[in-house]
Amino acid sequence: MLAELYFTRHPGFWKMLTVAMCMALLGCLQAQEPQGHVSIILLGATGDLAKKYLWQGLFQLYLDEAGKGHSFSFHGAALTTTKQGQELLAKILESLSCPKDVAPGRCAELKAQFQRLSQYRQLKTTEDYLALSKDIEALVQKEGLREAGRVFYFSVPPFAYADIARSINSSCRPGPGAWLRVVLEKPFGHDYLSAQQLATELGSFFQEEEMYRVDHYLGKQAVAQILPFRDQNRKALDGLWNRHHVERVEIVMKETVDAEGRTSFYEEYGVIRDVLQNHLTEILSLVAMELPYNVSSSEAVLQHKLQAFQALRGLRKGSAVVGQYQAYSEQVRRELHKPPSFHSLTPTFAGILVHMDNLRWEGVPFILMSGKALDERVGYVRILFKNRAYCAQSEKHWVADQSQCLPQQVVFYIGHGELGSPAVLVSRNLFRPSLPSQSWKELEGRPGLRLFGRPLSDYYAYCPVREQDAYSILISHIFHGRKDSFITTENLLASWVFWTPLLDSLAHEVPRLYPGGAENGHLLDFEFSGSQLAFSQRQPEQLVPGPGSSPMPSDFQVLTAMYRESPLVSAWPEELIAKLASDIEATAVRAVRRFGQFHLALSGGSSPIVLFQQLAMGHYGFPWAHTHLWLVDERCVPLWDPESNFQGLQTHLLQHVRVPYYNVHPMPVHLHQRLCAEEDQGARAYADEISALVTNGSFDMVLLGMGTDGHTASLFPQSPTGLDGEQLVVLTESPSRPHQRMSLSLPLINRARKVAVLVMGRLKREITMLVSRVGHEPKKWPISGVLPASGQLVWYMDYEAFLG
Ligand code: BG6
Repeated sequence: MLAELYFTRHPGFWKMLTVAMCMALLGCLQAQEPQGHVSIILLGATGDLAKKYLWQGLFQLYLDEAGKGHSFSFHGAALTTTKQGQELLAKILESLSCPKDVAPGRCAELKAQFQRLSQYRQLKTTEDYLALSKDIEALVQKEGLREAGRVFYFSVPPFAYADIARSINSSCRPGPGAWLRVVLEKPFGHDYLSAQQLATELGSFFQEEEMYRVDHYLGKQAVAQILPFRDQNRKALDGLWNRHHVERVEIVMKETVDAEGRTSFYEEYGVIRDVLQNHLTEILSLVAMELPYNVSSSEAVLQHKLQAFQALRGLRKGSAVVGQYQAYSEQVRRELHKPPSFHSLTPTFAGILVHMDNLRWEGVPFILMSGKALDERVGYVRILFKNRAYCAQSEKHWVADQSQCLPQQVVFYIGHGELGSPAVLVSRNLFRPSLPSQSWKELEGRPGLRLFGRPLSDYYAYCPVREQDAYSILISHIFHGRKDSFITTENLLASWVFWTPLLDSLAHEVPRLYPGGAENGHLLDFEFSGSQLAFSQRQPEQLVPGPGSSPMPSDFQVLTAMYRESPLVSAWPEELIAKLASDIEATAVRAVRRFGQFHLALSGGSSPIVLFQQLAMGHYGFPWAHTHLWLVDERCVPLWDPESNFQGLQTHLLQHVRVPYYNVHPMPVHLHQRLCAEEDQGARAYADEISALVTNGSFDMVLLGMGTDGHTASLFPQSPTGLDGEQLVVLTESPSRPHQRMSLSLPLINRARKVAVLVMGRLKREITMLVSRVGHEPKKWPISGVLPASGQLVWYMDYEAFLG
């Protein structure tokens, strides 16, 4: 019916469609998809998002595409009754607007056409979906059309996803030869596990290529321009877009609004999940990814993006600062009916320092920042380049496009702020960029306007020829199947893998309170050193008492005592690791001074990772050039396997320090393409290497851990080898996977000059108690056999392991 109306009014259109279809049959058609009828079903058709953006985006799609041979029908759907829904939809459609260059008369005509093609229907039950499917088929058949595809846009809360997905899958899929695209809106989970569950559930109804997860920031014009800009300016950027030239990257989304009216959502998500995990991370990946040879290949873009995610260095609590605007808790109490004593810990502001572990970006700080109730609304990505020039002439003679002493920056200005529109800015002293002239034009001068410390005239500045809303752009990309503008399951999970540990570690963090707006002053300014981020101003008096008092510096005392008749150092984890790292450094410095080299044997597992990061971060005096690194034990997996202890060492330490490669001694667990085969004699080879390089086989320092069963290194209770005897290195069996291990033996460990045992976490509490009481019983508890013959043993335990 809808198409009938349309075609009787537009006989030319019908003719064109017929011609196009014939051409397709002849194989002459250039377009990727043969044309046909497209049905767009907007679920949640009368909700806020639909009202504000989606219908307007669909109207724009119709304006852009209808003349090119496709026919359309638009189905607004919701749970509301048909009558009520129709009324609401009619109002929404009435408020649609045309692009500025369309004359009012023409606009009215186009709107009327669109209104005729759009109808409301109640979609509740599977039968409703089946009926919709039948109606579409009937329409297509009646008009003698071919069905090209169906788009289902889920503008509904995620709890409704599964039921709708099931109904579409069972009862509303198009027939063979036509595509199905389902469009999903965030939140896509709350953390890694929930995101994975949701993805698995959706994956049981839809193929990956059918799902379009929206991040509307990918539709913002300045963001969508990042890759094309990098591509079109390859020549100028090739040498610049790397750690040698980039000083820092800032990815910022500031808002003046607060969360009032949305606290039920916000209380569960907070700023990191709401904005950083998605919008800002997506932008980061566009800036940081390796540029594919062909940027218009969705596949290549998505694959490079995923690689960028994989290069993100893990975040730690110290990588973040969080705040909360002062009125937030009161809003939550009011909206969620909480008692007067309730104080929320949800951050409404966050600044995060991100590093990437790859050759292009190593050492470059990426600062991500977002918050509600800030002093201005603005979004931008700013790439600030290092300035190495010295200008002999005085500043008054500096000229924007010549002076190398002026700041050099590229800015993708997402919108709002002083400029009030999207833009791409490039400092004139950098290079003259090339942008597609049909969509970007030079920005007119605005005397007096300063951006990022410089007058606008210092930049080559471009703005879109036609400003477009993000949703209109994304709807067009959905229609054209441009998957690179959407979030794949792999990318989504990779992002959650990155953010979840930080979110967990911040769960009980008390955010800094800020008054909101201009009054924030410098309260939220932050600064970084190494990979630590901190507010620049010390914690002021709390404006409103937080739910718990923040720990004071005096709480972080390092306690020294005795454990099993050896010295014990105990502290909170961060202080403990800092103390151990500085003890190792002091030992290294002493060893190098005395013997010219330092032999350090390191354990794997999770506790030492923080230590490795600490050593990599701040120990500039460490004599890495004279340090030999050995492994205490290894899992029988290839060295590149994430389970390999060497891989942990490589990722968290070796990549960041300069140990000569001939001083690095991984265990030979993978010889002749096999893992720990007896006949390959890997253990023997390692023992020989130790004997050849380490005087008397006596390591300067050995770092051990302690398992909950009392194992240490890969020496497990009742191990037939390694607890005594002559062998220096042995193959052993672990009760947990991977079972096969290689390990230094107790006799070799006990030859060390110094042995440190690091024990962390509540799970170790029981074994810590037990081992404190037992004597020398290595068969039962291998750790109890650690007693250097002439060296020193020191225990490093955090409070949870030691005190419970
Ligand atoms: C949304 C967040 O994704 O983005 C909101 O949920 C935020 O909290 C919004 O306000 C900002 O988008 P925009 O397009 O207004 O910058």
